[in-house]
Amino acid sequence: MKIKELPKEKLGFFPTPIVELKRLTKFLDGPRIFMKRDDLTGLALGGNKTRKLEYLIAEAISQNCDTVITGGAEQSNHCRQTAAAAAACGLKCHLVLGGYEPENYRGNFLLDYLLGAEIHWTGEFRKGEKIPEITEKLIQQGHKPYVIPYGGSNSIGASAFVYAMKELKQQQYQFNEKFDYIIFASSSGGTHAGLLIGKEAFEIETELIGIGIDKEETEGEPLEIRISKLTNQTADMLQAKINIDPSKIIIKHEYEGGGYGVVGNLETEAIKLTAQYEGIILDPVYTGRAMGGLVDMVRKKIIEPNKNILFWHTGGIPSAFSYSKVLAK
Ligand SMILES: Cc1ncc(COP(=O)(O)O)c(C=O)c1O
Repeated sequence: MKIKELPKEKLGFFPTPIVELKRLTKFLDGPRIFMKRDDLTGLALGGNKTRKLEYLIAEAISQNCDTVITGGAEQSNHCRQTAAAAAACGLKCHLVLGGYEPENYRGNFLLDYLLGAEIHWTGEFRKGEKIPEITEKLIQQGHKPYVIPYGGSNSIGASAFVYAMKELKQQQYQFNEKFDYIIFASSSGGTHAGLLIGKEAFEIETELIGIGIDKEETEGEPLEIRISKLTNQTADMLQAKINIDPSKIIIKHEYEGGGYGVVGNLETEAIKLTAQYEGIILDPVYTGRAMGGLVDMVRKKIIEPNKNILFWHTGGIPSAFSYSKVLAK
């Protein structure tokens, strides 16, 4: 299917490689596991948000904005990558972060600081709730801000993952493999929405399984509803006649444990297994939890041994350096 190509600013290295995790597969005595390495997108230590930012920043530039503003948690990967994208394009970056200024600058937040972002601390609000208020102030001060929503999850951000499925389709030919399942961390929903549209647009036979990361709803809406709306908006924007049936939006909420950023045995075991069998680092908040879900589904044979899995490594590694107390046990 032909879909509209949006303008983009080159910020990362694509296509990201796909590797087979043979030793982890052998250890689990289960299905073959492959990994799409979006942790290697390159922009200030990589991650899935590089894809979204290529399109979001292009729009900011086309609107002659001088500033970008976004928000998230103190250890937000999205915010760190936005700060890097802004720096690379000569834009000022304002980050609206949940929590309070920490005594020690660590992980993603240390990088935000080094990348020159201006920080606004917002206590209990960690999903960019105060962005409109701060944007208003920036306008009054004479700036021209471009607002990137929480997680970069609007139709422009999600489109990046539609194109990512085109990239995957081309790699599938090289691999000569079909991936029965694609497993990934789903949080603000842009990645998930884009993958769903891309799967239809490029006729990829697979089942998408998002692993829920955050127990709390955003703007009072369950994630499934947000993703459903976002798929419609994204398909419209790309002029693609695609309608995603809400039953196709699969999110496993049973791995959410103690909630966003609370790291337990599921995540630590998955991080250690992937590190010690494959030499690949996962992060504690997103990819560690998603891999924990994968391992559990394989052990319980919810995913049968004769299937192939593609685990989409969405990055997030810098936050590991702010979780040393939990991980180094
Ligand atoms: C490392 C990592 N993986 C996955 C996600 C989830 O992506 P999305 O917000 O598009 O659902 C995020 C979002 O912040 C992330 O930082």
